[in-house]
Amino acid sequence: MINRSASNNLYEEAKKYLPGGVNSPVRAFRSVNGSPIFFEKGKGSHTWDADGNEYIDFCCSWGPLILGHADDKVLNKVSDVMSRGTSFGAPSKYETELAKLIVDNHRYIEKIRFVNSGTEAAMSAIRLARGYTGKNKVVKFEGCYHGHVDSLMVKAGSGLATLGTSTSAGIPEGFIKETIVLPLNDKEAVRAAVKEFGHDIACIAIEPIPANNGLLLQDKDFLLFLREICDETGILLFFDEVISGFRVSFEGASGYYGIKPDMVAFGKIIGGGFPVGAYASSAKVMDCISPDGPVYQAGTLSGNPVAMAAGIAQLEECLNPDFYQALEAKTAKFVSTIQSHVDAKGYPFHMFHVGSIFWLSFSNKNRVRSADEIAPNGPELFKVFFDTLIEKGVYVGPSSYEVGFVSAAHTEEDLNTAAEAIKASLDVTYA
Ligand SMILES: Cc1ncc(COP(=O)(O)O)c(C=O)c1O
Repeated sequence: MINRSASNNLYEEAKKYLPGGVNSPVRAFRSVNGSPIFFEKGKGSHTWDADGNEYIDFCCSWGPLILGHADDKVLNKVSDVMSRGTSFGAPSKYETELAKLIVDNHRYIEKIRFVNSGTEAAMSAIRLARGYTGKNKVVKFEGCYHGHVDSLMVKAGSGLATLGTSTSAGIPEGFIKETIVLPLNDKEAVRAAVKEFGHDIACIAIEPIPANNGLLLQDKDFLLFLREICDETGILLFFDEVISGFRVSFEGASGYYGIKPDMVAFGKIIGGGFPVGAYASSAKVMDCISPDGPVYQAGTLSGNPVAMAAGIAQLEECLNPDFYQALEAKTAKFVSTIQSHVDAKGYPFHMFHVGSIFWLSFSNKNRVRSADEIAPNGPELFKVFFDTLIEKGVYVGPSSYEVGFVSAAHTEEDLNTAAEAIKASLDVTYA
């Protein structure tokens, strides 16, 4: 057993002051055995914990670190900008620089507003959709996560288009009564909801690559159908690309599938490891935001120069020719090495991937497109798998519903070592 005593001690201390000892629930390791690992250092694809144990990291801070940890170009740009002040509460050129970098390289957006998290981006985009259309309702899909926004923390109630139920205490029923929750990949459900409520639906919100409840890859045909029904009805199509943005292509899932959303939310990679989110659309829609328009949205630290600098440095690298092809190719090879082993052994397991996102699914189904198709015994099997994998020096997010990320910093050697560790951990899990 690797020594985790320093992490354990830090956790005991943290619990005295922080609820659950953490500032975001999944970090508390409640879905796996043991207590959280406290990290001290990261470089490239590797991290080191408080006990000095080294890991090949596939959590990558839940996605933002597409260049890996402590990338030199990001660090240099951040220190340069930071040495001249950390925040002014007034415009700086870095906001425009990052906006231009994104808008000039994204076919589907004309203007962008920076905020401080993915949650804020989704929340603000929904307000803008309502303000722009003058309509109230929002369609979301079961199994998609859009941050801890009151009106979006909703799961389906019983029966189509009935009132959903909130997934957190503290959300009044009145706050979710304008939210319609539908199953993913189900055209009929969308048609029925639009037929009944279409006159009052502001937007259809979806993670075009749903990656918060496993990786629920949608048929492209379903996404195209959403585009069509929105075109027919004037409902805005809102792609939440907080994970997929700058991950599966520079233009995210929109570019990957070649589908134009009306609004996009970004987070994670856009901030180069700093707290940044953004929402974007056509100039016509974005001009409805204050100060130009009536939809109010603001932020003391929005467009923070240090965070903008990190985003610029990271996204400039993403624009290198073949950046995404190389990431996708090495991820595909990594996944197929593991899947070949699984197939040879006959384990009921499937590794899904798109671009450099992967998901370890503890079921032999090779199509899982909606939350209710996920095998219920996955979480128990994952506990055994995770414990074994950690011992072998490979770190993935501590829950069976989380996806993993390959970064540009993962070398062939890292991926070979990690693939061997994953195979051996599956052998233990299915022994
Ligand atoms: C698709 C999606 N939207 C919104 C969010 C919320 O982002 P944040 O955690 O930065 O508030 C997340 C977070 O994982 C996400 O994956």
